[in-house]
Amino acid sequence: MAVIPEIGTPETARWEALAAARTRGDVGEGIASVLALLGLPDLISFAGGFPDPKTFPRERMATLLQEFVTAGEVSAFQYAPTRGLAGPLDALTDRLERLQGRRPADDELLITSGGIEALELVGKSYLDPGDLVVVEGPTYLGAIQAFRSFEAELVAVPMDEHGLEVDELERLLAGGLRPKLLYSIPDHQNPAGVSLSAERRTPLVELARRYGFLIVEDVAYRELGFSAEALPSLWSLAPDVVVQAGTTSKTMFPGIRLGWAVGPADIAARLVSAKQNTDQCAGALGQRLFEESVRRGWIDEQLVLSRALYERKAERLLGALERSLPEDAHWTRPQGGFFSWLTLPAGADSVALAQRAVEQGVGIVPGTLFFPDGRGADTVRLSFSLVDEAQIDDGIERLGSLL
Ligand SMILES: Cc1ncc(COP(=O)(O)O)c(C=O)c1O
Repeated sequence: MAVIPEIGTPETARWEALAAARTRGDVGEGIASVLALLGLPDLISFAGGFPDPKTFPRERMATLLQEFVTAGEVSAFQYAPTRGLAGPLDALTDRLERLQGRRPADDELLITSGGIEALELVGKSYLDPGDLVVVEGPTYLGAIQAFRSFEAELVAVPMDEHGLEVDELERLLAGGLRPKLLYSIPDHQNPAGVSLSAERRTPLVELARRYGFLIVEDVAYRELGFSAEALPSLWSLAPDVVVQAGTTSKTMFPGIRLGWAVGPADIAARLVSAKQNTDQCAGALGQRLFEESVRRGWIDEQLVLSRALYERKAERLLGALERSLPEDAHWTRPQGGFFSWLTLPAGADSVALAQRAVEQGVGIVPGTLFFPDGRGADTVRLSFSLVDEAQIDDGIERLGSLL
């Protein structure tokens, strides 16, 4: 048990001593430093994974708000049930069936406050201190932080251009590794910009069945493939061992903080219980905006435009990298999502590079942030989603000159 510090202890030390143990495990600095980079004026930023504001449906949202008011609607402004409002749940159920080929039962689905809350609820419901979580190396920083905040141990399994190395995972499991959870972003991964190949998906879910762990599938970028086709989701392949975390942040806009979790009914029930004492319910206003946007086909219309925009930006980034970077650097060629993953020439230090890049007016994120174990010193995440298209060439040229 923590010792309560004596009266008179200097304030910083006092609050540090009072802090819960779960806040002390390497959480914290990561996302804050990315956001801090984003905040600098005049930076050509390849740092944050934010959507391009050109994709925000401003006028349509104004129309809906006006309609709600005119119709005297109450539900958009009231508290909602913890699992979600019936209409939005219904719209989401139809959408999941249409896009992923499996219709969730009512007790398998809940609406969350963003994808990150779905991860948080899984952690809160299933992780005790010291439990093992397998993640992809590299992986989404927010997930590392979410699982660490429950004092879990994280093990990163490597990836290649076809996603998680499932053979390597199998070898580790055969050697005695016993995770409770495996977290994967199979489509257009953040930060690696690659997808898990079709051939690896079934073997992965089979491993979950054989070794008794739960797969947490994060589909944040699934609908943002440059072509509309998608590989089968892990949840659709194995709804018995997969809980999927989804988000509307990249397909609508992040300001509504709306996502979902879908998985086995027993698991969904636990997530609903956990949600009761976090935020009780996702905002009803966002739920209704989402429902109407789905029913009117607006999200699908927007996705056509968003895919084309992000594909153009990605092409521009890849062209600039080709022209400006030394031959011994290499990078992934994303087929969707927001990111390309850059591996620097041997011996390069991405943290030092990020610092020097900022001095040259360019924001990048060192790869170390995306590993739970300090690896990635020679890697960099480049995000093309938010950066001004016309500045991509200039930004990459400046980066190239530093290398
Ligand atoms: C892989 C991944 N999952 C989840 C999220 C968070 O989504 P949300 O805004 O819904 O919390 C992000 C956001 O960057 C992400 O990249």
